[in-house]
Amino acid sequence: MVVMGSSSCCSVAVVGAVLVFVLVLDGADLCDGGKTSTFVRKVEKAADESADMPLDSDDFRVPPGCNAPQQVHITQGDHVGKGVIVSWVTPDETGSSEVLYWSKNSEHKKTAKGKVYRYQFYNYTSGYIQRCTLNNLMYNTKYYYEVGIGHTVQQFWSIAPPEVGPDVPYTSSLIGKLLIQTERSPITNRIHKKDRLLYVGDLSYADNYLDHDKVRWDTWGRFVERSVAYQPWILTAGNHELDFAPEIGENEPFMPFSHRYHVPYRASNSTAPFWYSIKRASAYIIVLSSYSAYGKDTPQYLWLQQELPKVNRTETPWLIVTMHSPWYNSYNYHYMEGETMRVMYESWFVKYKVDVVFAGHVHAYEQSPKYSAFREASFGHAIFDIKNRTHAYYSDYTSYLNSWHRNQDGYAAEADSMWFFNRIWHPIDDSTSV
Ligand SMILES: *[C@@H]1O[C@H](CO)[C@@H](O)[C@H](O)[C@H]1NC(C)=O
Ligand SMILES: *[C@@H]1O[C@H](CO)[C@@H](O)[C@H](O)[C@H]1NC(C)=O
Ligand SMILES: *[C@@H]1O[C@H](CO)[C@@H](O)[C@H](O)[C@H]1NC(C)=O
Ligand SMILES: *[C@@H]1O[C@H](CO)[C@@H](O)[C@H](O)[C@H]1NC(C)=O
Repeated sequence: MVVMGSSSCCSVAVVGAVLVFVLVLDGADLCDGGKTSTFVRKVEKAADESADMPLDSDDFRVPPGCNAPQQVHITQGDHVGKGVIVSWVTPDETGSSEVLYWSKNSEHKKTAKGKVYRYQFYNYTSGYIQRCTLNNLMYNTKYYYEVGIGHTVQQFWSIAPPEVGPDVPYTSSLIGKLLIQTERSPITNRIHKKDRLLYVGDLSYADNYLDHDKVRWDTWGRFVERSVAYQPWILTAGNHELDFAPEIGENEPFMPFSHRYHVPYRASNSTAPFWYSIKRASAYIIVLSSYSAYGKDTPQYLWLQQELPKVNRTETPWLIVTMHSPWYNSYNYHYMEGETMRVMYESWFVKYKVDVVFAGHVHAYEQSPKYSAFREASFGHAIFDIKNRTHAYYSDYTSYLNSWHRNQDGYAAEADSMWFFNRIWHPIDDSTSV
C-alpha cells in the first residue's frame, strides 16, 4: 500500500457501476498497510445488473405537459452560499428562462431572469438549456421555486445553506460516478434525501455510447432531478466529462458538461469552471481538475497558488479539496494517474494544512494512512459530517447510511468510519513513515 508521508490527503474513491476488474493486493504485506476488506467484487455479467437501463425506463420518464421543464438542477451560485444557479431543459421550444421564487414564510414571489442556449455535438442538438441565478437568498431558509413559466409550471424547493462560520455543523454526502445508467443505479437513489452533495466526477457516462450519444446526458439529467433539483451538488469534472472526440470533429474538452452544469467559478476569481472554490458553513471547498493543465504557470496552478493563502481558517476551519483522479491509489487500475498532480501540489496541501481530499476515479474504496488505511474492492457512498471546528465524523448515525457504503450488493454495508480532526484547531501527529 502506498504510504503518504506526512500529508493530510485521504483519498476516498466512491464510485459506481462499471465493468472494471480490480485486483486486490494484500495490503497487510506492504509496510503500514492498514486493513484490506475481505470483500471480493463479483465479476459482473454484462446482461444483468450492469446492463444499460432502457431509454424508456420509468426513471428517465419525460414529464407530461407542453414544453414541460426537465432535468432541473441547482448548484451554488456564489462564493458564500447566498446564491443558487437553477438550470433546466425545455424540450420543444425556447420557453421562459424566468424563475419565480419565494421563501417559506413569504407571500411575495420574486422573479429572476435567466438565459437560454443550445449546443451541438456531432449530430446531436441539445434541448433549450435554461440557466438562471437567484441571488441574495437568506441563509438557512427554505425556498420554493417555479420553472416552466407560461407553459407547464413545475415547483421545487431547496433550503439555503447556513451562514458561513467556524462552528456551523455541516453534513455532506459524497458520491462519484454512482448514477450510471445501469440497472443497479436506482439502488443509489436512497442517498438523495441527504444534505448537499459533493460529487467527485463522472456524471452521465454518455461518452461510453456510440458517437458520445448525448441523449444519455438527457436521460441522466431526468434521472438525477429527484435529488439535484432540491439540493445543490458540488461538481468535480471527471474523465467521462471530457468528451474530447477529434475523430468526429469535437475538439473542445468538457463541452457538453460545461454547457449543462454551471458552477460559480468567477466568484472565486477562477478563469474556468473546472477549478473553483466555494464556502459552505464551516467548510472551504476547493475543486480541482485532474484533466485540465496543472503544470507550473498554467491557469489552474496560478489560481491555486493564490487561492490557498486566502483561506481564513478562523472563518472556515475545514479545508476540503476534491478532484477526480486520486493522488494515492494502491490498486492496479488507474495506478499513479494522479502522480504528476501530486508532485505539483502536495507540498502546498501540507503547507496550508488541507484537512481532507476526496477523489473518485478508481472503482474501489481506499483511505490513506493513518486515519483508517482501509481498502476494499468495492465502491459506494459516504457521509462527511462536520460537527464543529475540531471534529468531523465520517459517518452519520442519524440516517440509514453509515459512513462509507458499498453499492455493489444492493444493501448498505458499513465498511469504514472514523473521526477526522481539524489540522488547525485540533492537530494530531499522524505522520507515517515507510
Ligand atoms: C448520429 O449518427 C449516428 C451514426 O454515426 C446515427 O446512428 C444516429 O442516428 C445519428 N443521430 C442523429 C440524431 O442524426
Ligand atoms: C477576486 O478578486 C477581486 C479583485 O482582485 C477581489 O476583490 C475578490 O476578493 C476576489 N474574490 C475572491 C473570492 O478571492
Ligand atoms: C478571518 O475571519 C475572522 C472571522 O470571520 C475575521 O474576524 C478575521 O478578520 C478574518 N481574517 C482576515 C485576515 O481576513
Ligand atoms: C466538537 O465535537 C466533538 C464531537 O461531537 C465533541 O466531542 C467536542 O466536545 C466538540 N467541541 C466543542 C468545543 O463543542
